[in-house]
Amino acid sequence: MAIASLTPELLSAFPLFESLEQADLERLLERHLASALGEDQLLVQESDWGETLFLIRAGLAKVRCFSPDGEEVVLCLLGPGDVFGEMALLDEKPRSADVLSLTPVNLVKFSGALFRQLMLSRAPLSLAIAQLQSKRLRELNRRFAIHSADASTRLLNALAQLACLSESGANVLSVFPALGQRELAAIAGLSRETTSRTLSKLRERGYLEETAAGMRLLSEEPLKRRCLL
Ligand code: CMP
Repeated sequence: MAIASLTPELLSAFPLFESLEQADLERLLERHLASALGEDQLLVQESDWGETLFLIRAGLAKVRCFSPDGEEVVLCLLGPGDVFGEMALLDEKPRSADVLSLTPVNLVKFSGALFRQLMLSRAPLSLAIAQLQSKRLRELNRRFAIHSADASTRLLNALAQLACLSESGANVLSVFPALGQRELAAIAGLSRETTSRTLSKLRERGYLEETAAGMRLLSEEPLKRRCLL
């Protein structure tokens, strides 16, 4: 995946960094590391100690943990422009969850110590982190509410989220990478059998197509009907 080197201008285009001045952006970039990884790679492991903040420049990832009976619980999906790894920096505790790539990803790693130092002296950066946490709590609330909905609603919500995250400016009708049924089931919080059945139903009704480029929802109508838009 060819991707331009990160410059202060490119970095300031990401909402979390937009309040920083040129000198701060340059300081962050002096100690950054860019990497490209394949799909299904563990980017951050729950319970590890970590001092790095990550920015996704391309690709999709999931944040997950496991229930006491060993079932995977997907907490959140991440895409281009999203950061992760901020929680261990904020509370100085071990990583709160696993983060895994769902597709090939381009990542940037920043020094957590420097980021924390900047937060102490730059109020707008601290506010941006607080806003990020607030956004995540809202998303988690929404996910929690959808968890008791029927299978079609849960799967449509997962597919719409994947479409919106797949690239910047993407919307619910955008093409997104065709993930396997096991992965879609984990994201939607459904069994694999129910996911398979529900996918067939969506295809038969003309709401979903799969092409060589990926998957795509074909209509906003089932999303609107379920108040997912
Ligand atoms: P950290 O705890 O350092 O490492 C795991 C990361 O996953 C965490 O920081 C956050 O960036 C991210 N994360 C954990 N829980 C959630 C959640 N509920 N929603 C979004 N991101 C999360």
